[in-house]
Amino acid sequence: MTPTRILALETSCDETAAAVVTDSLDVLASVVASQDELHRRFGGVVPEIASRAHVERILPVIDQTLSNAGLTLDQIDAVAVANTPGLAGSLLVGLVAAKAICAARNLPLIAIDHLQAHVYACRVASGHDVFPCVGLIASGGHTNLYDCRGPLEFELLGATIDDAAGEAFDKVAAMLGLPYPGGPAIERAAAAGDPKAYDLPRTFLRDERRLDFSFSGLKTAVRYTLVGPGKSDFSKLRLDPQRVANLAASFQEAVVDCLVDKAFLCLRKTGRRTLCVGGGVAANGRLRERLEARSRLEDVQLHIAPPRLCTDNAVMGAIAVERFKASEFESLDLDVLPGVVRRTG
Ligand code: KG4
Ligand code: ZN
Repeated sequence: MTPTRILALETSCDETAAAVVTDSLDVLASVVASQDELHRRFGGVVPEIASRAHVERILPVIDQTLSNAGLTLDQIDAVAVANTPGLAGSLLVGLVAAKAICAARNLPLIAIDHLQAHVYACRVASGHDVFPCVGLIASGGHTNLYDCRGPLEFELLGATIDDAAGEAFDKVAAMLGLPYPGGPAIERAAAAGDPKAYDLPRTFLRDERRLDFSFSGLKTAVRYTLVGPGKSDFSKLRLDPQRVANLAASFQEAVVDCLVDKAFLCLRKTGRRTLCVGGGVAANGRLRERLEARSRLEDVQLHIAPPRLCTDNAVMGAIAVERFKASEFESLDLDVLPGVVRRTG
C-alpha cells in the first residue's frame, strides 16, 4: 500500500523549511534555507526582513523538497503548516503557501503548533513513543516547560518571564563581539574557557515553587562585568580571547544550570519519567552533556533530537501525521496565532 505523504512547511521565525514525511514517520526529503546571513549584521532576527526573505524562498524550497523526494504535488496527500507561535509576518508566508496548494489541489490542510513540533522532533528521532513526557523547549523565542500527556495534549507549566534562553545567547554573544547566531559562537568560545571564572546569577534556581525562567538579569550581569555597573558603552571595550572564553563558559554554565534544574523540578512535580528536549538551544553540547548525566543519575528517559532537528526544520512537522490520523483538518479560514497556546487537547 502507498504510504500517506504529508508536505510540511515551517516559516515561524527565520528559517524557510519544507519536508515530506510519511504516516510511518519516514522522512522522504527535508530542506532548510537559513536566513542567518541576512540577520547577522543586526545581531538578531529582524521581522520585516524575515518575512520578505520567506516570500522569496518558500516556493524554491518547496520545489527542491519535492524534487529531492522524487515526488510531484499529485503524490502528496495533505499539506501541514506551523501557524503558531512565531512572528506574524513569517507565519503568514507559510500559511498562505499551504492554503494556496490546498486550494489548487483540493488537499486537506493541517495546523502545526511549532512548539509541540519541537517536542515531536524527539519522537521522530527516537523511532518510538515518547509520550507522556515533560517537554523542555529552549529556542530563540521561547523557554517553555510542558506537561505533554500526548503528542497533541500539552499544558504549559513554566516559561521565561523575560528573555528566552536563545535570545540571551544571541545578546551576550553580541556583547562579546561574537557573531550571530550567538549560541553556536558562545559554545565554541566556551570550549577554551573556565565556567567558574565568573560568578553569574541563576534566577529562580533555588525557588522550588516556580517552574519559570528569567535570563535578563544574567545578561545584565555579563554587561556589568564587561563595562562596569550601570554602564552600556561597549565602544572602548578591549576584550582578550581568554576573557571572552571565560565569560562565554560562565554564562553558558549559568543558563545550563537553570534549564537542567527546572526541567528536573518539572519531572518531580508532574511525576513523569521521560524528558524530551527541543529548540535551537538543545543543540548545545554542554546542555546535552549535563542533561544526560542528570538523567542517568535520576533514572529518567531522556530524548534530545540530533542538533539539526533541534533548530528550526520541517521534519518536526511530522506531528501533522497525528492530526491526519485523527482527521483533524482546518478550513481555508485558518489564521496565524503569534502567541503561545497554553493548553491543548
Ligand atoms: O529553535 P530555533 O532554531 O529558532 C526559534 O524557534 O527561535 O532556535 C534558535 C536559537 C538561537 O537563539 C540560537 O542562538 C540558539 O537557538 N542556538 C544555540 C545553539 N545553536 C542554536 N544556543 C546554544 N548553543 C547552541 N549550540
Ligand atoms: Zn523553533
